[in-house]
Amino acid sequence: MELFLSSVDRIVILSDTEICISAGLLRGERGAWWMVPQKKSEILSEKARSVTVGGVHDELRYTDPYTLFLKRAKGSKIYDIDGKAYTDFLLGYGPLVLGHCHPKVVQAVKRAAAISDLWGIGTTEFEYKLAEKITQHVPSAEKVRFCNAGSHATFHAIRLARAFTGKKKILKFEGGYPGWHDYVDISVMPPLDKVGTPWPVSARILPEGVAQTIVLPWNDVATLERAVSQYKDELAAIITELILHNIGVVMPKEGFLHTIRELTERHGII
Ligand SMILES: Cc1ncc(COP(=O)(O)O)c(C=O)c1O
Repeated sequence: MELFLSSVDRIVILSDTEICISAGLLRGERGAWWMVPQKKSEILSEKARSVTVGGVHDELRYTDPYTLFLKRAKGSKIYDIDGKAYTDFLLGYGPLVLGHCHPKVVQAVKRAAAISDLWGIGTTEFEYKLAEKITQHVPSAEKVRFCNAGSHATFHAIRLARAFTGKKKILKFEGGYPGWHDYVDISVMPPLDKVGTPWPVSARILPEGVAQTIVLPWNDVATLERAVSQYKDELAAIITELILHNIGVVMPKEGFLHTIRELTERHGII
């Protein structure tokens, strides 16, 4: 049986014990997986909700009508506590390029965990060596700061851009997700009637913060050029994924990213 959750997300039930998932499921959309009996997940989900918000620790992991409890993972598969196998197309939203629990990665993590854990001062040779490797392979990365999450990184990046340019505003695109902090958690997946106006994702996002964030439609060169021309003296940074991947996979139109680069370079915007 195949079920399409939207034009970009789909779940394929291969058998009673094998299911394919893609982004829709983890977005909390009512999918097909719960139609296959889940016992332990349903019971534990109830318990987890009494001590955690929604039974999860990130709303992207929230599933409806109850939380999927996972037990182990290997290669392209993840397995839940009810014994079902899922083909995982998300792979941690990107970093698991080698698949789940690759033996070389597991060995390296084990080796590192055996000799150190968490220090409040200093650094390690590993951190320096990894940073050096990144600067060698990513020409635009002159220096590296490791962060625990994407939001942590974009928060730093925006602060740095404001300090460097002496300007306040930032520009993001509707449908883009640069993190959950107040500067950018705006118009990430707006309801249809909110498309076209800056829409804060959560209650209590400061209106003063929203006022400093310009939200534009993705892939619209003319609107971008107009906005940059209007706000160039206030605009510290334009922040974007290269492909909008939190609302499916929305590729940039040919030349769109080059236009962003060209405009930012011309007007002293990061
Ligand atoms: C480009 C980009 N920036 C920031 C984030 C935010 O990451 P996190 O949710 O880990 O804070 C994401 C997450 O998908 C991302 O893709």
